[in-house]
Amino acid sequence: MFSLQGRTALLTGGAGGLGRAVAAALAEQGASVAIADVRPDVADGLARELAQSHPDQAFAGLAMDVTDEASVVSGVAEATTSVGSPDIAVLLAGIGELQPIATMSFQQWRHMLAIHLDGTFLGIRHTVNPMIERGWGRVICFSSIASLQGVARQAHYAAGKGGIDGLVRSFSREVAGDGVTVNAIAPGYTESPLNEVAPPGRIEALTESVPAGRFGYPSEIGALAAYLASDEAAYLTGQIISPNGGFKYCHHLGD
Ligand SMILES: NC(=O)c1ccc[n+]([C@@H]2O[C@H](COP(=O)([O-])OP(=O)(O)OC[C@H]3O[C@@H](n4cnc5c(N)ncnc54)[C@H](O)[C@@H]3O)[C@@H](O)[C@H]2O)c1
Repeated sequence: MFSLQGRTALLTGGAGGLGRAVAAALAEQGASVAIADVRPDVADGLARELAQSHPDQAFAGLAMDVTDEASVVSGVAEATTSVGSPDIAVLLAGIGELQPIATMSFQQWRHMLAIHLDGTFLGIRHTVNPMIERGWGRVICFSSIASLQGVARQAHYAAGKGGIDGLVRSFSREVAGDGVTVNAIAPGYTESPLNEVAPPGRIEALTESVPAGRFGYPSEIGALAAYLASDEAAYLTGQIISPNGGFKYCHHLGD
């Protein structure tokens, strides 16, 4: 089950903590993978590592800024040339920031929405047409519990993720008859460099607030992405799926 043999994936923000785990999981199931990121050197290093452990599949690291449409178009073209036209788009590019609305600049607000919401739209817009033509595709977006539950000082981040949730629910209906599924993974707190924005003591406070008693492992997100990308998940679309250890946001975390 869950074989991705012969499939091609493109990951945006693929050089990050969760991107690395998703790339490894998709590769393990047999997919070829292009890793796009604003840090192409890191993406390239990951592609080389995966090529060593999976010599019969194609891997590439490439430069892409998801806030820039020309960069997304040229990155998708480069991915298509080096590993093949993507049948699986995993849209992970993101940043974390804690900032109260009372002191947030308009530029901070716009930048957050540009990466998360515009970046997800552009990633979808420039990969989905070949999927529709082939009658098979998988779009996997990245939302967050910040959208589902709300997190103080992350209103801009949560607004971007909430936009992604609406995009997923609506767009999935447009392509459900074309063999293309569209879902979002909305992780709870998961071990990754993204959480390095947390001030001292916050990680401990967050961990105590997770009923499972720990942060999620990136490999758990990778396994879910591999399932969503598989033939077995063909009937699962328009969903926001949240692996979060039972986390419920607590007021004291907003201090
Ligand atoms: N780790 C968590 O706890 C967590 C929880 C909920 C949601 N998420 C979401 O999961 C996704 C992946 O997060 P992560 O933990 O791997 O974070 P990360 O910081 O480790 O990785 C994010 C990646 O995105 C890249 N990136 C940033 N701006 C970009 C741009 N403009 N264009 C292209 N790439 C860009 C970064 O270079 C980095 O490699 C994000 O969308 C994040 O919001 C993460």
